[in-house]
Amino acid sequence: MHEDDLAAAEAVHLSSLTAAEADGDERTIEAALRPRTLAEVVGQVRVRDQLGLVLEAARRRGRAPDHVLLSGPPGLGKTTLAMIIASEMTSPLRLTSGPAITHAGDLAAILSGMNEGDVLFVDEIHRMARPAEEMLYMAMEDFRVDVVIGKGPGATAIPLDIPPFTLVGATTRAGLLPGPLRDRFGFTAHLEFYEPHELDTIIHRSAGLLGVDLEVDGAAEIASRSRGTPRIANRLLRRVRDYAQVRADGVVTLPVARAALDLYEVDELGLDRLDRAVIDALCRRFGGGPVGVSTLAVAVGEERETVEEVAEPFLVRNGFLARTPRGRVATPAAWEHLGLKPPPMPAVTDGDATLFED
Ligand SMILES: Nc1ncnc2c1ncn2[C@@H]1O[C@H](COP(=O)(O)OP(=O)(O)OP(=O)(O)O)[C@@H](O)[C@H]1O
Ligand SMILES: [Mg+2]
Repeated sequence: MHEDDLAAAEAVHLSSLTAAEADGDERTIEAALRPRTLAEVVGQVRVRDQLGLVLEAARRRGRAPDHVLLSGPPGLGKTTLAMIIASEMTSPLRLTSGPAITHAGDLAAILSGMNEGDVLFVDEIHRMARPAEEMLYMAMEDFRVDVVIGKGPGATAIPLDIPPFTLVGATTRAGLLPGPLRDRFGFTAHLEFYEPHELDTIIHRSAGLLGVDLEVDGAAEIASRSRGTPRIANRLLRRVRDYAQVRADGVVTLPVARAALDLYEVDELGLDRLDRAVIDALCRRFGGGPVGVSTLAVAVGEERETVEEVAEPFLVRNGFLARTPRGRVATPAAWEHLGLKPPPMPAVTDGDATLFED
């Protein structure tokens, strides 16, 4: 899925609470809330430490750092980290995305314009065209590309050296990256969902930047319902602030946060409409599964990618859904969350369930 599609899907996914999200203003706000340095990054402690070391070592050697792959569900900070890598190295950042690279020539044009030490960020790198991917292997390893001039029998390949650069790839689906590409990254970081106390810190920081009057337990309530995702935490904060301003005295207290989040249909565990629709379809329509993800997606009226990349990681991580070789299966927790009785035979057995992506 194209990044914009994914963003749009996520917006739809957040349903009513994102009516204003398409509006550029909110995007500007999101950009303003991004941490600018590694030290400002909240959570992801291991990734931060490891990445800090990679960057510091490169700085001492006066070289471009090794290529970095960032993977993880939407909104956990991949783009943010890519920007931080460039700014920590005081290097220019060039941005592109897999879907924008439809021909090897698109990539050749980008690579041939690179300067030494530049950081090239390729978002949704798993969606790049295959011939471009092959060109990228050589560029990553040997800092060289073969530029093909002309067409047909008269075409000639001209080898072109490119200055050492750092590729930062981001993907929501590391499992879809071909092995040879994955292996050429010197450092791979898998971003995990955030703990409520980390989201709490993020929400307080954002409230400070946005000038929102936020009480401690109001923040905790938003944090616990943010699906482990900073982007969602920041959005919910803004929606709760709207509610506080229109229906209360502007202060985000616990009762205000609760009332607002109920209004926006974000439940106590952070599940939103799509999450609930998925487990609801799984339990009520398919008896708890196993059911194929495409069928499940049709049942909830969404794209397969949206179900797989947006809803499932959170549901799996929170033990509501298991991915098995035969299809998706609801766990007893999913039945209970819907207020239903789990079927007598547990749908998930140890040898069957796999919690791994793809
Ligand atoms: N570690 C963090 N600390 C504080 N805020 C964060 C952190 N990570 C992300 N954010 C906030 O969450 C927002 C979304 O992050 P970002 O755009 O980097 O996610 P992403 O992983 O690139 O998502 P996508 O897969 O949709 O492109 C940012 O605007 C930033 O404000
Ligand atoms: Mg991104």
